[in-house]
Amino acid sequence: MPPKKVFIETLGCQMNLADTERMLGMLDEIDYSPTDNQNEADLAILNSCSIREHAVHKMHSYIGKWDKNRKPGSLIALAGCVAQQEGEKLIRDIRTIDILVGTHNIHRLPDLVLEAERKRRTNIENGVLGAEENRGMHFQRAQVAEIWEALPEDIPEVPIHRKSKYHAWVNIIYGCNYKCTYCIVPKTRGEQRSRPIAEIKKEIQQLADEGFKEIMLLGQNVDGYGLDIGTSLAQLLREIHPVNGIERIKFLTSHPCDMTYELIETVAELPKVSKYFHIPIQAGNDEVLRRMARRYTRARYMELISYIRKLMPEATITGDIIVGFPGETHEQFMDSVSVVREIGYDACNTAVYSPRPYTPAADWDDPISAAEKNDRIRLLNAVCTEVAEERAKRYLDTVQEVLIEGLSQRNPRRLMGRIADNKTTNIDVPSITDASPRPGESEEELNARIYKDLEPYFGQTVKVKITKANPWALRAELQKSLCYAHS
Ligand code: SAH
Ligand code: SF4
Ligand code: F3S
Repeated sequence: MPPKKVFIETLGCQMNLADTERMLGMLDEIDYSPTDNQNEADLAILNSCSIREHAVHKMHSYIGKWDKNRKPGSLIALAGCVAQQEGEKLIRDIRTIDILVGTHNIHRLPDLVLEAERKRRTNIENGVLGAEENRGMHFQRAQVAEIWEALPEDIPEVPIHRKSKYHAWVNIIYGCNYKCTYCIVPKTRGEQRSRPIAEIKKEIQQLADEGFKEIMLLGQNVDGYGLDIGTSLAQLLREIHPVNGIERIKFLTSHPCDMTYELIETVAELPKVSKYFHIPIQAGNDEVLRRMARRYTRARYMELISYIRKLMPEATITGDIIVGFPGETHEQFMDSVSVVREIGYDACNTAVYSPRPYTPAADWDDPISAAEKNDRIRLLNAVCTEVAEERAKRYLDTVQEVLIEGLSQRNPRRLMGRIADNKTTNIDVPSITDASPRPGESEEELNARIYKDLEPYFGQTVKVKITKANPWALRAELQKSLCYAHS
């Protein structure tokens, strides 16, 4: 039998990206290899996100499109946060789905796929389904659904098919114990649960042995790490810092309530830990923060920022802000604008509030018109860009170390990587950026030659000089003589 192919579309945050890598790892064991082309997939999986209504619309549109162009006999699976949120009933509502799996039991995916394959075969043998048939009543097909209410007591370790060879996500804490009144995550990811330090260390040691250079520690509330098992993120950072081969350690996402001074001091002290903090504030007004149930004030948040800036003046600080939370007045919104300026965010994700099912705020009066919300987000985005532009200038003409991840998406003649403080950097390599075809060389041959010349840099840490500082990305030139790999 020819090898089977799996295609996965991932919506949402890093939790889903990490889960996708697990799904690919597990499916490899039942002979599914990844493809980038949905049309040739024997199994297409949508790893869904439910954070805003828009993400849920996207999910429906992908599944509808996939169903129309399905390869005969192929399966469609829905995983991720919408699946977890809605439960097994979803399979009756979306009849084009063959397999439904939640966020708490993705380790069950291979068994569910095999069961769906088996059911399908039985249906064909019994004559209720033609071999080429895909549609039809759902009970004639191969529907299999399994959603668990909570994570298993012992979370099984599963194989991971990592997308990058140098940069690895490592989940250190699952779930979230906060109950922000707008947020669906506690429903889709359950209660906070930390992984034991020893298990995390083992995984990072293995990654180092395989040549990984950069570790991103993940959690919806990553600073809450250890609270349930008598340790802390600061302690974990100290334990993993000595692992040879790992050059950079980052963590994401911080919650202002669980970020401690000890953690900030630890980041300042440990050289391999990036001076990079993603700490969403969500709103700049205390009354709005109270109704969001964020459990901190603007002043408390600013204390944390001041302490970070005191110990690490150059640190990169990014955040998230929700615009138009139910009842947010214009004055309250203007506090979000002023807080962006006061913090000096290097980047800030903004989103118009989207009511989510099962959350308290979804039932609250929301008199602000859509037009007003759009005006507010436009103004806030303009200020975020202005502040980020101003902040980015500090990098101009400086020399930075960049871990090369691959080629720039926009211009495959440039290298792309990140500086230690996380900013994306596109790098010109002398003689390559302006290369032209040799006599008789086609454009394709030229591109292949350029790729061959640039590939040895992948996974290397190189020194670059920053030549342009855009708000969202830097441009740089390779300092050839200083480059570790090619000096
Ligand atoms: N755990 C992180 C955030 C996780 S969700 C924290 O506590 O900050 C990622 C981002 O999505 C949030 O920071 C928030 O800005 C946004 N978000 C969450 N729910 C939303 C909603 N209902 N409407 C609009 N944006 C939302
Ligand atoms: Fe959602 Fe709040 Fe938990 Fe963040 S801290 S995931 S916003 S409930
Ligand atoms: Fe979306 Fe789930 Fe992440 S709702 S933002 S994918 S935890």
